[in-house]
Amino acid sequence: MNAGETQRTPWIVGVSGASGTPYAAAVLRALLAAGESVDLVVSRASRLTLLDETGISFRDAHWADDLREWLARGADGKPDTFTVDVGAVRYWSAGDLAAGPSSGSYPTKGMIIVPASTASVAGVALGLSKDLLQRAASVTLKERRRLVVAVRETPLDGRTLRHLVTLDDAGVTVVPCSPAFYAGATHIQDLVDFVAGRVLDAAGVPHGLYRRWKGELGGGAER
Ligand SMILES: Cc1cc2nc3c(=O)[nH]c(=O)nc-3n(C[C@H](O)[C@H](O)[C@H](O)COP(=O)(O)O)c2cc1C
Repeated sequence: MNAGETQRTPWIVGVSGASGTPYAAAVLRALLAAGESVDLVVSRASRLTLLDETGISFRDAHWADDLREWLARGADGKPDTFTVDVGAVRYWSAGDLAAGPSSGSYPTKGMIIVPASTASVAGVALGLSKDLLQRAASVTLKERRRLVVAVRETPLDGRTLRHLVTLDDAGVTVVPCSPAFYAGATHIQDLVDFVAGRVLDAAGVPHGLYRRWKGELGGGAER
């Protein structure tokens, strides 16, 4: 880096193969709207959930076009609901274990896994590093950077609950993908945005995705 050049310090966003690709889209849109740069890792399994939930085939060779189409889609499935500039995104293939985020010397602000599958929760808790998503999470932990894990599964069995406690003990913020109903949701997007907003609260990134509790019952009805 030359003198005077500012260092790019992105958030890593890992999308794993749990249901809930609209949560990932809402988090990505909000990070970009907040002026953050993003390093994106899309697990192999999440290509199936993305295909199932949006009809989009995510291709490494055409990631920017596929990402733009995905982020433009509303949680109700309508295309071209949002306009998103993906210029601040750097994409890494999930199999690329030589990628930037696989090393602690690569500067990042931290990592968000959204949605997090129980498999990715297990892999991170056990330090498996079976792909770039899990390796980047292990690096984030060893470098004592912020890690937010938005887990999506129901019901949860003892193994996953134990893995989540391990993550909590390691300083991870575990955010279950469970929307609340006090914020006056009237559309699916509102419920998605509530979860995405709580994920960004945990990461410390400002956003206006949901109506915050103001201390008065019925405040959500003002929407
Ligand atoms: C349509 C679909 C929905 C899925 N939903 C979930 C889910 O909500 N939670 C979960 O933990 N796994 C879910 N899975 C299973 C994961 O994709 C699977 O465990 C996979 O190995 C996760 O790998 P990854 O963590 O590398 O992405 C789903 C799979 C498919 C095909």
